[in-house]
Amino acid sequence: MPNTLALLACLLALATAAAAYNNGVGKLPVMGWNTWCSTTPKQMRELGVDAPDLCGLTDNCNAQELMDAADALVASGMRDLGYTLVAADDCWSAFNRTADGNLYALPSEFPDGIEAVADYVHERGLLLGLYLCIGTETCRRGRPGSYGHYEQDANFLSNFVDAVKIDNCNRPANTTELELYSAFSAAFNATGKPVIVMLCEWGDANSEPYEPVEQWGPTIAHSYRVQMDHLPLWSLPTKGAGAGYGQGTKQVIEYMAYLTAPPRSFSSVEYGMMDPDFLETLFFPTMSFIDSRTEFSFWTLFSAPLIVATNVYDIMSDPAKKTILMNADAIAIDQDPLLKTGHRVANNSDGTQVWMKPLANGDLALICFNSHDLLPLRCSISWAQLGLPSTASLALRDIWQQKDLGSFTGGYDVPLLLPHDVVYLRATPQ
Ligand code: GLA
Repeated sequence: MPNTLALLACLLALATAAAAYNNGVGKLPVMGWNTWCSTTPKQMRELGVDAPDLCGLTDNCNAQELMDAADALVASGMRDLGYTLVAADDCWSAFNRTADGNLYALPSEFPDGIEAVADYVHERGLLLGLYLCIGTETCRRGRPGSYGHYEQDANFLSNFVDAVKIDNCNRPANTTELELYSAFSAAFNATGKPVIVMLCEWGDANSEPYEPVEQWGPTIAHSYRVQMDHLPLWSLPTKGAGAGYGQGTKQVIEYMAYLTAPPRSFSSVEYGMMDPDFLETLFFPTMSFIDSRTEFSFWTLFSAPLIVATNVYDIMSDPAKKTILMNADAIAIDQDPLLKTGHRVANNSDGTQVWMKPLANGDLALICFNSHDLLPLRCSISWAQLGLPSTASLALRDIWQQKDLGSFTGGYDVPLLLPHDVVYLRATPQ
């Protein structure tokens, strides 16, 4: 990138660093569902097969899938717990624009247009989210990107869309993420309609001379992806493009430990969430119950957007999925108004870890985590690790057991934890 552009990018970041992106919506982490790793009901269900979409491999979505998800969010009670977003990923648009230059939905999958889906979800008290891309084409199968159309897309889509995810593929070589994302965000702001803007920049701008997305993301968007895609696997150390230590849950947790530790100490803020990407809750067959519950524990500790990318149509008949996604105590920690992104306070050589997140009422959310892949381990939290006097007494509530455990002085010894498992606690100083 020419030096002048680099300088401009830095100046822009500094100039906007103070202000969060407050347009009246998206103050707390957004919650909802996205088509990305869910089933493809139209093709598969007609064949009687409930098969996973494998996160874009078959790359289909359709109006019925989105409407089914909306119905499930309402009927299950998920909407009332805060899951209000119904979002289509890189699958909804046609492969060209209309004669007017507007994006439109693939007619074979959305016979009444995306506007009809918007009406359907709005009638149910939900929000519609759509995928867009900052570059000339989207990431998968080359649907139209928004480059050269930012104002047009913002003006047209803000008539019926409540949230946009903006991806980072096919960005012209002489541009930076910061300038393009700033321009697209400004175009949405100029419409006057409060749209939730979610950056999907993969933490890519982290190398010099660019400012990392953690610095400028919150100034132009409600959330910003901190790294490459989280795939529905416990461990996948290959990081691909973008920042991070890999794409499994384990690597995402480790990268969040790095981002939240000094000297970086990044955190979500009001209207600006760090986004470790989708929840891959119980993706079959690679996300076990324990792995999924641990993922949800950390995402809520991170104050992350809670966007479920696996299917929710069957949530009512899936007690395991319900147990994880509908735990009101965990959701309250995610939505806690202090919005501190939880950080690691102990990384023990046996593989146990202790994490904490301060909450608005003075409570602490605590995770004791067995990161070992094979061994069950005992895990201990000492109040000294949390910066408290060892004489302090904390009342503990076990979030997954849904049980008050009583008061503890000095610390808490967690009984044996299975590999990858956590104990998730809410601690109230006495
Ligand atoms: C990128 C994004 C994913 C998904 C795909 C769609 O990889 O990071 O979340 O949106 O593109 O093609």
